[in-house]
Amino acid sequence: MKNSLSIILFLLLMSGSESTGQKGIAVTVNQLVVVANNPGAIISKDIYGHFSEHLGACIYGGIWVGKESKIPNTYGIRNDVLFALRELKVPNLRWPGGCFADTYHWKDGIGPQSKRASIVNTYWGGVTEDNSFGTHEFMKLTELLGCDAYINGNVGSGTVREMAEWVEYLTSGSDSPMTRLRKENGRDEPWKVRLFAVGNENWGCGGNMTAEFYGNVMRQFSTNLNNYSGNQLYRVACGPNGSDVQWTETLMKDPGTRAMFQGISLHYYSVVNGWDSKGSATKFDEREWFETFRLNLEIDNIIKSHEAVMNRYDPDKTKGLIVDEWGNWFSVEPGTNPGFLFQQNTMRDAITAAINLNIFNQHADRVKGANIAQIVNVLQSVILTENDKMVLTPTYHVFRMFNVHQNARLLKTDLRCEDYTFAGKTIPSISASASVDNNGKVHISLANLNPGKQITVSCPVIGEEYKTVTGEILSASTMNAFNSFDKTDVVKPAGFSGFTMKDGILTVNLPSKSVVVIELSK
Ligand code: AHR
Repeated sequence: MKNSLSIILFLLLMSGSESTGQKGIAVTVNQLVVVANNPGAIISKDIYGHFSEHLGACIYGGIWVGKESKIPNTYGIRNDVLFALRELKVPNLRWPGGCFADTYHWKDGIGPQSKRASIVNTYWGGVTEDNSFGTHEFMKLTELLGCDAYINGNVGSGTVREMAEWVEYLTSGSDSPMTRLRKENGRDEPWKVRLFAVGNENWGCGGNMTAEFYGNVMRQFSTNLNNYSGNQLYRVACGPNGSDVQWTETLMKDPGTRAMFQGISLHYYSVVNGWDSKGSATKFDEREWFETFRLNLEIDNIIKSHEAVMNRYDPDKTKGLIVDEWGNWFSVEPGTNPGFLFQQNTMRDAITAAINLNIFNQHADRVKGANIAQIVNVLQSVILTENDKMVLTPTYHVFRMFNVHQNARLLKTDLRCEDYTFAGKTIPSISASASVDNNGKVHISLANLNPGKQITVSCPVIGEEYKTVTGEILSASTMNAFNSFDKTDVVKPAGFSGFTMKDGILTVNLPSKSVVVIELSK
């Protein structure tokens, strides 16, 4: 009885009524109602995916040091980075780009390393690469991480045959020219590759195509990507740039085009101060702090606009929206190569990560994957390296804290919170989502965007009773606190006890500029 009353009250709340009438569930300014007994869509673990491009020191130096390196490594992959990434439970890793993917010819990166063709990375810094990290090395990395490979094929400058042969080389168990080549290169068994992107940003660096032209090209490429030997490809079509719903409409409306992919990508970066000037990753004021979150929150509207188009043509939600590039894009660190996109990472980035992951969780019925840009040393990285040193960024810690949501089921929530206002603009001060995992544990992830105010959030948990509450927090004394190679632990998670649980109501005292994950168990 209590439960059904609670659900009715929740529905009233959702419909905008302010009158609850239920003792203990009064509407307060900062309230997050969590309905625990009616789980919804599975939050795909792929939402917690990462992206590794041949760009700056992401692959070369950041991940790959080669077997002969003095830096401890496994098959040439640096151990410190590998072990740290394992803690994140990386579900999938996208490679080799980005814009680089549409210049990459995979056959340059196979065979004996000494014989591989060197190439110039025309997009990123014009540096020469020896191709010592190629298909076999990438697949080894995914094996060592225990994650899925997400391979991005070359549409912009590659051929249909080249892409088709890559899939054959990777996944076929038959006797064929490509599988014989793979065996010559030391790998007998085919790999499993689920995620495969048919081009990257083909509206831009991937060929400057119109949506109509790309739609036809994608059909042709996709037709030739076979499911070999029990491997089932999940083909990701190049999707829109930010809010370009016309691109999505063009790919979705025609049944013949729609049939050629399972997912459609979306790229959205938060670029505070615009592309020309951007802003410093570490030296910023409250205006830029606020503006970053305002831009981050925009992704919710962008996702909704694409969902609206997709829902019209795919009401059963068989096609996934894959946000395979997202994050903050700031100016490079002073003195570093502008083409390498190396930026520091502060408490601001941690809150950005929490905002985005909470939003993706909330869209779990349509958003089936996401990849933060990028994994090491590029843009909003989870790890930075310098020679043999490594540092975990605040963004890393949020990914580790939030991985409890992977493959859990989304819980319905209703958030009412005070505004965070700056210079006449307003955003919500709280970001939140909740899920229940296979063991019945509920996780509530919260972020307080306000840099100067502790906020108390009242969370009525409806439908189930929980006895044990634990928590973890990431916070810092300043907005721009960051971890450097000398001071690696300035921003690090800690146990959190700033909560009470009474009569089914969890009350959380969220310190200013903090990210908190609460676990409820029975
Ligand atoms: O992540 C950096 C670049 O941003 C990628 O290469 C490209 O796809 C996007 O424009």
